Formats: sequence, C-alpha cells, structure tokens
Amino acid sequence: MIFTEDFPLILALDTSTLEEAEGLLDNIENSLSYVKIGHRLYALGGIPFLEKTMKRGLNVFLDLKLHDIPNTVSIALEPLMNIGLWSLTLHTAGGREMLEGAVQTKGRLRSGTLLLGVTVLTSHSPESWEEVNPGCSLQRSLVERARLSAEVGMDGIVCSPLDLPLINLSGAEGLIRVVPGVRIQEGKDDQKRVTTPGKAFLDGADYIVVGRPIIKAPDPLLVIQKIREQYLEVRDGI
Ligand code: C5P
Repeated sequence: MIFTEDFPLILALDTSTLEEAEGLLDNIENSLSYVKIGHRLYALGGIPFLEKTMKRGLNVFLDLKLHDIPNTVSIALEPLMNIGLWSLTLHTAGGREMLEGAVQTKGRLRSGTLLLGVTVLTSHSPESWEEVNPGCSLQRSLVERARLSAEVGMDGIVCSPLDLPLINLSGAEGLIRVVPGVRIQEGKDDQKRVTTPGKAFLDGADYIVVGRPIIKAPDPLLVIQKIREQYLEVRDGI
C-alpha cells in the first residue's frame, strides 16, 4: 500500500523507545509522508534521530511546544532551524515578543522550517482551562492566540478540530491548520476535544495529527487506510 502523495496525515510517533519507533516506521513509512516527534523520542535520540528519520524521506514535525523567555527560545531554535525539519512548534502562551523573536530567528537563518503556534491543548476541557486561566474563556484565548500567530508572521497554528469554526473568524484564516485530537471512534483517554478525521478535514484542517489510534492498533496500516478513505471522501466531495 503506497499512497503518500498529498495525504496530510501526521503520525505522532509517541512510542516508548527509538527502536519501537524504527520498527513501526519500517512497516508503515510507505503509507505516509509526515511524522511528529515529541519530547520523549527527542530526549532519547536528539538531532541524530531526527536526521535518521528525515533520511527515510519523511517530513519531520518536531513538537517541543517551546515556551520560555524570548532569548531562550530564539537560541534554542538556532540549532534546529537548518537541519531540514518540515515544522516545529512554539507555545503561543509565550506571548508576542517570544513569537516575534522566533520568526526573526527563522528569517535571519533563512530557514524553510514552518513555525507552528500551539493555541490551546486539545486535552483541555473548558473547566480545566478556567482553572489555570481564570476569567478568560477557552474560546477567547483561542481566537486571540490564533490572531497573534497571524500578526507576528507564524506559518501556522495547532488547534483542536472543534476550534476550526472559530479560527475562521479569528483573522488567522490564512495560516496552516494542524489538528490533533482526532479519533476514528470515541474512546476514553486524555484528549477531550476530539472529532473524526473526515469531520476535521471538512471543517478546514490542513493536516491532522494522529498517534495512539494508529500506534496502539493491532494493524496500524488498516487505521491509516481508514483515515485516508475519510480524507479522500472530503477531498473529492463524495
Ligand atoms: O495519541 P494522540 O492521537 O492523542 O496524539 C496526539 C499528539 O498531538 C500528541 O503527540 C500530542 O502531544 C499532540 N498535540 C495535542 N494537542 C495539541 C498539540 C499537540 O494533542 N494542542
């Protein structure tokens, strides 16, 4: 099954070990073009693991959700901007100066890596949001953070599929939308604001990020195939 062309599925490579990730990729790398590497595998394998994964011909999305003072974020970006990553994430909670600094660093290094701003984690419920952001609704924060991302020149945002209709009203319509919190069917885990792949694409996701529903499946290729079917139905207007 080889069908990577124009298939905007990003596999969240959230395995326990580098070996497990390599084994999974050996089996499925021909069925997708994008993988997301997060804190755990980056801690275990660092830049050499990113490079090894890119050598497979995969587009790598490094999801570190950088959030620190502007100088610290800018210098953290320097060694990552010219190794050929497809994209990496910053947390918009870091604020305007941090995001502007990141955009400037990208420009100075003439990097082609996309900078994506994480808006509100898909694991938040309105209640868990209110607990740490008293007085500001999840929706308002989402819209303001998306708008800020557009204003400072970020390339895209990461948001819940349920947030997509709001993004259309935020002034960030032109940004790439990367959407985690996607489930083939309802399940009980830490993701609270979820939908199906088909609905996410229909609502305007440019890319979807899916981890456990693929990684933990007895047959990961079958799940990828189901996601592709939903994607094609939306793309071809079936
Ligand atoms: O296993 P699951 O499909 O829930 O994986 C989703 C991935 O997307 C995880 O790696 C998680 O870190 C990431 N993510 C998210 N919500 C965000 C940003 C990234 O779930 N707002």
